[in-house]
Amino acid sequence: MGDQPATAAHATVVGDAAPTEQTHLHTEVRRSSAASREITDTVLKVRDLEVRYGDFTALKGVHLDVPRNEITAMIGPSGCGKSTLLRSVNRMNDLIPTAKVVGSVYYHGEDIYADDVDPVEVRRRIGMVFQKPNPFPKSIYDNVAFGPRLNGVRQGLDDVVEQSLRRAALWDEVKDKLKGSGLALSGGQQQRLCIARALAVHPDVILMDEPCSALDPIATMAIEDLMQDMKRDYSIVVVTHNMQQAARVSDRTAFFTVNVDHRTNERTGELVEYDLTETIFTQASDQRTEDYITGRFG
Ligand SMILES: Nc1ncnc2c1ncn2[C@@H]1O[C@H](COP(=O)(O)OP(=O)(O)OP(=O)(O)O)[C@@H](O)[C@H]1O
Ligand SMILES: [Mg+2]
Repeated sequence: MGDQPATAAHATVVGDAAPTEQTHLHTEVRRSSAASREITDTVLKVRDLEVRYGDFTALKGVHLDVPRNEITAMIGPSGCGKSTLLRSVNRMNDLIPTAKVVGSVYYHGEDIYADDVDPVEVRRRIGMVFQKPNPFPKSIYDNVAFGPRLNGVRQGLDDVVEQSLRRAALWDEVKDKLKGSGLALSGGQQQRLCIARALAVHPDVILMDEPCSALDPIATMAIEDLMQDMKRDYSIVVVTHNMQQAARVSDRTAFFTVNVDHRTNERTGELVEYDLTETIFTQASDQRTEDYITGRFG
């Protein structure tokens, strides 16, 4: 998060659609028994979400539940609003002056846009890892200790740093050079350092925006293995352009597309389908999903 502009929060929220019991989307028909696996424990509920940048509506009508201790993939063509959605569920869009969020996001049942909610605390609990590894120009140790220090932690930092690096599967590679620069690590190591930095403040949801797109296949596999390991303790939402990756790592997949209004030429993102990954990849309900995952799209 360190590379984000520290401007004042401007996002506003209207509407108070309460979370409902129903945890599925508009795809009423379930064609396989596996597809009926319900979400029993939800960490994030997104209701009727719309995000605008000034007059431009980037995304609208999003309704989705993120289950606990699972990996949820978000896929769809460039510009359909995947990053916009990720930033809306941990209030990172507050940092974009023109962004306006309409609708509701509930984290463990609590509306994260309610007046008395501290966006910094939201971002601590719902951490984010970006496409390009972005370690601070500091030592490996100081990168991981950064968040805890910001939160006032002074004691036990060595333990927090070690535990976070272990959880990010980086400890063995860096334990002898903790004072070395984070920028001196390889791309894959830098990304794991960023994951360790996110974990150090004890989040329970991790948002990953194309975390492997700057990495080679070996580093990508290391991150995918790590994600599988992490889901025991965290709930993960990952945006990816890599269909194989979505199929390999995720439990559920949400497919988004861009609707073009031919009169105004407005391009608005919408959620087409959300289901078990297996269902999305083998028997998608919507032709647009099938076209996209089989590469027939644009
Ligand atoms: N800060 C911003 N100001 C204005 N418009 C924005 C801003 N960020 C994104 N947009 C617009 O919102 C739409 C959705 O963008 P977003 O980055 O969320 O898409 P995406 O699905 O993540 O795309 P990609 O796959 O290329 O990363 C796009 O039309 C984009 O141009
Ligand atoms: Mg994006």
